[in-house]
Amino acid sequence: MNLKNDLILRAARGENIERYPVWLMRQAGRILPEYRTVRASLSGFKELVETPEKAAEVTVQPVDLLGVDAAIIFSDILVVPEAMGLEYQMVESKGPYFEKTIKTEDDLKYAEFNFDVEDRLSYVLEAIRITNKELNGRVPLIGFAGAPWTILCYMIEGQGSKTFSKARKILYQNPTLAHDLLNRITEVTIQYLKAQVKAGAHMLQVFDSWAGILGTEQYAEFGLKYLDRIAREVNEVPLTLFSKGAFTSVEAIARLDCNTVGVDWNMDIATIRKNIGETRTLQGNLDPCALYASHAEVERLTNNMLNSFSSKRHIVNLGHGVYPDIDPEKVRTFIQTVKNYELK
Ligand code: CP3
Repeated sequence: MNLKNDLILRAARGENIERYPVWLMRQAGRILPEYRTVRASLSGFKELVETPEKAAEVTVQPVDLLGVDAAIIFSDILVVPEAMGLEYQMVESKGPYFEKTIKTEDDLKYAEFNFDVEDRLSYVLEAIRITNKELNGRVPLIGFAGAPWTILCYMIEGQGSKTFSKARKILYQNPTLAHDLLNRITEVTIQYLKAQVKAGAHMLQVFDSWAGILGTEQYAEFGLKYLDRIAREVNEVPLTLFSKGAFTSVEAIARLDCNTVGVDWNMDIATIRKNIGETRTLQGNLDPCALYASHAEVERLTNNMLNSFSSKRHIVNLGHGVYPDIDPEKVRTFIQTVKNYELK
């Protein structure tokens, strides 16, 4: 299938672009009333994720309604631990909750690591195939997975946390168990990402949402080591690594075999660019809260960010997922400002 708009793929590969591509993390979701209507017609978030036609429908919505330059498949990073046998519930206004967690070797009996990924996660792969039919080449489709460290956090902790101290405790008390799990998660994740490409994903992003809670050395040992393996083994399509909050590791991430490095809003684009050179694309990094400002201010802040870019190796996004109560009109102003910006 020929893509009519392949800006984001060209930006990821460091090729020439006419303007900066733009999309938003969590663009398929609660900011859109059209999403809430589809979700309300089902029993909840999980049914939406597990029903390929519906997941495809909400994946395409931001392309139609917001004019983004890429779609991201509607799913969740938690489908991977669930495929391993740790079922989760998405508790309304609270977040994910896992009944079973892994804290000792004995708990490994709850999880399975040798299974047919394409079979067990077939609903995601089917959603990718349907989405591409509906997109009909309008924009590329991004597939994704959680990074091994972030998935490990949920498998140990069982729910969200400010500190993930139960997960971090294991790194000190039983690093062997942590590495054993990280190895197994990495293997499944590589198979899952490759399966998404086979199903039609044009690009991939790995989310390490909890990278920032580890110190630099621990992140190298329990995070980067496994991202490195993923980046070396998954090279069919452009790959983005987003290690949120890992300020001190950005340069090490940029040395991994990826095309794009995600940058959150606490990181300074100009400094990072100076330190990594022009061999990688950067993605980010407007503060998601900036979209609470007035339209004029959103425009000003977005232009400021664009002015901080010194090359064409950029994909515009927020520094993290868009917050659910953001006015879609503000998102449109953000996107339009990027589209109006003249590349020098
Ligand atoms: O970006 C997109 O539009 C695609 C869909 C997507 C979702 N989750 C849908 C979702 C993606 C890429 C994710 C990734 C994800 N999921 C991450 C990594 C990115 C990040 O935000 O750091 C993480 C840590 C999760 C785990 C997760 N899923 C949590 C902690 C929560 C609850 C908190 C919240 O934001 O609501 C979810 C739920 C979730 N995943 C929702 C959506 C649209 C909200 C569910 C709803 O509709 O009520």
